[in-house]
Amino acid sequence: MNEWMLRFDDYDPADERRREALCTVGNGYFATRGAWAGSRASDHHYPGSYVAGLYNRLCDDIDGRTVENESLVNVPDWLPLEVAIDDGEWLTPDNSQVLDHQLELDLRRGVLTRRFRLRVAQGNIIAGVERRLVSMADAHLAAQSLAVTAENWSGVLRIRTGVDGSVTNGGVDRYQKLSGRHLVEIEPAVQDNATALVVARTSQSYVRIAVANRTAVFHNGTPCESGWTNSVDATTAYHEVAVAVQPGDVVSADKAAVVHTSRDVAISEPLQACLAALPGLPAFDRLLEPHVLAWSHLWRKFALDLEEPADGTPAAVRLNLFHLLQSVSPHSADTDAGVPARGLHGEAYRGHVFWDELFVFPVLTLRMPALTRALLRYRHRRLPAARRAAAAAGYPGAMYPWQSGSDGREESQTLHQNPLSGRWTRDATSLQRHVGLAVAYTMWQYVEATGDEEFLADHGAEVILEVARFFAGLASYDQARDRYVIKGVVGPDEFHTGYPERPDAGIDNNAYTNVMAVWLFRRAAEVLERLPSRRRTELTESIGLRPQELSRWDELTRRMYVPFHNGVISQFEGYADLDELDWDRYRRKYSDLRRLDRILEAEGLAVTAYQVSKQADVLMLLYLLPRQELYELLATLGYPTKADTIRRTVRYYLPRTCHGSSLSAVVHAWGLTSLNADRALEFLVQALHSDSGDPAQTGTTAEGIHLAAMAGSVDLVQRCFTGLTLSGDELRFAPRWPVSLGRMRMNLRYRGHHLTVRVSADGLAVSADAGRADPIRVRCHGTTKSLAAGRTVEWPAR
Ligand code: BGC
Repeated sequence: MNEWMLRFDDYDPADERRREALCTVGNGYFATRGAWAGSRASDHHYPGSYVAGLYNRLCDDIDGRTVENESLVNVPDWLPLEVAIDDGEWLTPDNSQVLDHQLELDLRRGVLTRRFRLRVAQGNIIAGVERRLVSMADAHLAAQSLAVTAENWSGVLRIRTGVDGSVTNGGVDRYQKLSGRHLVEIEPAVQDNATALVVARTSQSYVRIAVANRTAVFHNGTPCESGWTNSVDATTAYHEVAVAVQPGDVVSADKAAVVHTSRDVAISEPLQACLAALPGLPAFDRLLEPHVLAWSHLWRKFALDLEEPADGTPAAVRLNLFHLLQSVSPHSADTDAGVPARGLHGEAYRGHVFWDELFVFPVLTLRMPALTRALLRYRHRRLPAARRAAAAAGYPGAMYPWQSGSDGREESQTLHQNPLSGRWTRDATSLQRHVGLAVAYTMWQYVEATGDEEFLADHGAEVILEVARFFAGLASYDQARDRYVIKGVVGPDEFHTGYPERPDAGIDNNAYTNVMAVWLFRRAAEVLERLPSRRRTELTESIGLRPQELSRWDELTRRMYVPFHNGVISQFEGYADLDELDWDRYRRKYSDLRRLDRILEAEGLAVTAYQVSKQADVLMLLYLLPRQELYELLATLGYPTKADTIRRTVRYYLPRTCHGSSLSAVVHAWGLTSLNADRALEFLVQALHSDSGDPAQTGTTAEGIHLAAMAGSVDLVQRCFTGLTLSGDELRFAPRWPVSLGRMRMNLRYRGHHLTVRVSADGLAVSADAGRADPIRVRCHGTTKSLAAGRTVEWPAR
């Protein structure tokens, strides 16, 4: 793999589904998995295309209970472009002998190329090259080309193209027992000899979807205008042409596809929109040009070049940025979609939105702040739903859902099937109230990074205040301790959804939740101060904020309870009293311990009984808060904390964490940079390769990428190792740059400036493009310098 190319040089059925996820092409509006064109869902393939924010709900009966799930919908497949010899089957690598097979994803240009040579039973060989893209220049457009050579035979080569509306959501084995048929009123059609289309609507959300494509076929470069047959059945529309070929003849096709839904802006009706947008004569190379240009613009903004490291780091950074930009891009802005945890690359977690944006925004905001702003609006629009959820649960303010989809209600499942035991168990992870803290935190961070006070006044402040209100309501006074406590929640470590002996779900005083709630109370007060006085009055009036509430927030910043044991911050109250797991025994028994919860459940044990963490929990505090801020916050609470507490805390959880979430490596790398640089680098490598190195057998990349780990690993390079923080009006660096990472150069946007940051073990330099923005303050190693447009400031290594 070179830095700009992801390659697979063979055909490995067992790894195909993972490769399909890694070879997805998309543009933030929609994305299509890298499946063999025309393949149907099978053990080896899972073709899927997903449109950002397009959900549908289905109900199932499980053990006498009705379970309702909302899922990101797999829309009709635009890919089918297949060949067959004489009256044989449509060729796939599964029904022929694979002589060569190579997949190549060009990250610079966003093009997936598949080269293949297949031999059928009679010894006839077909060699082909297929290219495809989902246009970064036009949100609704995709293009594909196929050129096949009849190597050693003469006869009839059939080629068919079309749209397949028979697709369902069936990409995740664990969900197989649940319904997956989201499309109804499926209407396939063929118009003239070149256009195939499927119109359908989603069964519950009533979104109308149209997918149309137009194909031009050539025989040795000459258009095939006759000999076409059309076939339309209940769900698919194909047209087909038969060409008499001689050895060496080339049959090629250029196809354009357009996807529209009734959720789109600036259209009248999806099918009309598709037909109007389909190019008259699809020519792949013509559609490629603007797409490559759009990618080049994105890559300039997202330039992050690592020179020297010969390992896979630069390539992994590139791949992760590529998939990030295919999942959320400027085309996401009008989709009213959030940040999907698994990208638009598969059906795991049903396309839901968790707290993962926390890991994604730092990469976006420093390059395309307008995109973060657009994605934050997804949360603001769902503030009424969060208010309703809080009220229904008996709390003030706004309670954001742990899993969010179309309208902002809680989408978490209540039952979870353990694939190891087949048993359905209660799932209480929706008690992760901390998601609201993440929503408020990202709003604040965006304003800090951009100085966008207008966003704060119009949207951010309202969210921050309402979430603060909710947490103030969640906290109760514990007389015995003379402190406030938060009971019955779940922290980021999803293994601990309760206590082994307690029937009710939830744990008490999750340190992360309590401390971040305090952080929020402080911010909420600051936000009020910061608002222009008229807006402050309007907002306090409209949400009915009372002075007593502010006093309570203030009180909470001094009296919130945070559990400690032996000089270590406890993950939650009682964590240290749980049993220790015999890690060695489990390591000997299982090669992959990431899902220890499932392993233990299958053995009839409960993970809640053990000091075992799925992912970094307390350590999240080190990820989100600068060390001094954390010390100060804890000191104000009456918990004087020193570097030693942090060191002990990190050391305590490290051997007790199985990293069942890909986020864990990001957070561990962060927490370890100042304590153990080598371990931090190990975690960086792990985070960078969460998906590209995910084992096909036990991993879940086949069901979708892990977007937050992808973005978070890039963030480690850009912020963690450079010590980049945004504080007040200053851009600050405190590099701990590992020699092994060589030299890094990245482009950033900050307060109207286009900056280039260069860092290596020798020092740091920041340059500002020529322009009209006012100088900014840049601080490194304790000295602040003013950086004006067109100038550079430098610091040698210390
Ligand atoms: C993690 C969560 C994360 C979710 C989606 C889970 O495995 O525990 O923290 O938000 O995946 O990425």
